[in-house]
Amino acid sequence: MIPIHTRVFRWNPATEDEGRMVAYEVSVHEGARVLDVLQSIHDDIDPSLSFRSSCKAGQCGSCAVLVDGEPKLACMTEASDGMEIKPLNLPVIQDLTVDLIPGINQIPRISADTGTGLPAHEEIQAIKPLRDCIECFSCISVCPACDVTAFTGPAAMRGFMRIALDPRDSTNRIGKAIEDGLFTCTSCGKCFEVCPKNIRIPGKAIEKLREIANKAGLTLPRHQEVEKLVQTTGRSVPREKLTFLEQVGEVIEPEGEVRGEVGFFVGCMFNGRLPDTALDMLYVMRKNGIRVIIPPEQVCCGSPLIRTGQTSYINTLRETNKNCFSKRGITTVMTMCAGCGATLKNDYPDKPFVVKDVTEVLTGYGIIPTQKLPVIATYHDPCHLLRGQGISEEPRSLLIPAVQEFIEMPSICCGSGGGVRSGVPEEAAALGENRREAIRKTGADIVVTVCPFCEYHIQEHTDRPVKNLLTVLREGYEAMESSGRESTDDK
Ligand code: SF4
Ligand code: SF4
Ligand code: FES
Repeated sequence: MIPIHTRVFRWNPATEDEGRMVAYEVSVHEGARVLDVLQSIHDDIDPSLSFRSSCKAGQCGSCAVLVDGEPKLACMTEASDGMEIKPLNLPVIQDLTVDLIPGINQIPRISADTGTGLPAHEEIQAIKPLRDCIECFSCISVCPACDVTAFTGPAAMRGFMRIALDPRDSTNRIGKAIEDGLFTCTSCGKCFEVCPKNIRIPGKAIEKLREIANKAGLTLPRHQEVEKLVQTTGRSVPREKLTFLEQVGEVIEPEGEVRGEVGFFVGCMFNGRLPDTALDMLYVMRKNGIRVIIPPEQVCCGSPLIRTGQTSYINTLRETNKNCFSKRGITTVMTMCAGCGATLKNDYPDKPFVVKDVTEVLTGYGIIPTQKLPVIATYHDPCHLLRGQGISEEPRSLLIPAVQEFIEMPSICCGSGGGVRSGVPEEAAALGENRREAIRKTGADIVVTVCPFCEYHIQEHTDRPVKNLLTVLREGYEAMESSGRESTDDK
């Protein structure tokens, strides 16, 4: 037997004003699950501890709790010494037991007598991943859209799509899905990250439902405007000033020895709205011996259209982008926009090159250390970098040595993705305000990120400067150069 120390949330709203964390020590067998620990507390210490379980095999979904802040099935998660156990972020009935009824009632159920026969083999295969849901509601408890809107949540959207694929039910429910918040999803990917059944709700349900909405002429007007802009200009951001592509040549040679070479996919935001940040990236690449090739005929990656279900023009964009890099023999395409990177990596099948985020390129080659900037910095994880590309260590390993002090803040969506900033601005603003509070709590002087959408959006919701990591690195190199100049002048 091994000892496990844990802190468990206790609250009976019927008799207590607020909950508290209570420390327990129990002895459990090696490899015990979180559920074994809860059962031991219940059986040996306090029989009033309230929690749910049924199948004890990851099949019923009833035992989901937060373990160290992340939703887990208690019956499938190994207990660890020092763990904290809290209820899901849903209305608490008592202790770890939350109210599942609203979530259950919001999931659409199939009306099998309205359709036209049984599903074909391919239809069963398509439905199967969406049918695996065990209604644990881990996804609802972490969904940022559920936090600030009346969105019924990812599990319900999964249900709508599951029915849409099933010929036994021909009820048209797209209007109801929109009413329930289909366009409030920010594509943050958190629901997929926590789902114990690995259901890819953003890609397999929400984007597909948005495609159905598009075919029915129900795409939001602001999203339709973006599609028109892409079709007429190749870009999702209008030209307001000299663009990045208009300012640079096709090949940017580094200072000194060439240590590497990448093709650069600029993306619409850096090209049209934040070209100076992309120029900061070129400065850092030149300093570190990396040649950058920039095909001028590249266009929008298609992310704003895919996320909003407007997919009729996507193949044209994909082919233009694939061809412009492949015809130059480029084997590594570098992105510095998290959304473009996730799209090129995940939504461009059969591409003849590898796609890397700028932070992967820089950590891969290694960089000359910068002078530390005299600031306290925090870092905002862009959802499409953290969950879309699985990148969290690389930006931190570049940022931490470049600043005097680094403070973490929780990784939560800022609200700018999935077409929400343009389509549901009040939701984007509410999520931006949540970031304001998280930033304030860190006490940091600056916020650093590596996504132009996050950078632009968060800056509207904080008084601290929001800087791209590449700008921080450029400033570090410039500080090094000027202090070198000063010490030379002193001699
Ligand atoms: S992707 Fe994010 S916003 Fe969309 S349903 Fe999942 S958790 Fe909610
Ligand atoms: S979709 Fe996944 S996380 Fe959401 S309720 Fe179903 S099983 Fe749980
Ligand atoms: S007890 Fe059924 S999923 Fe955990």
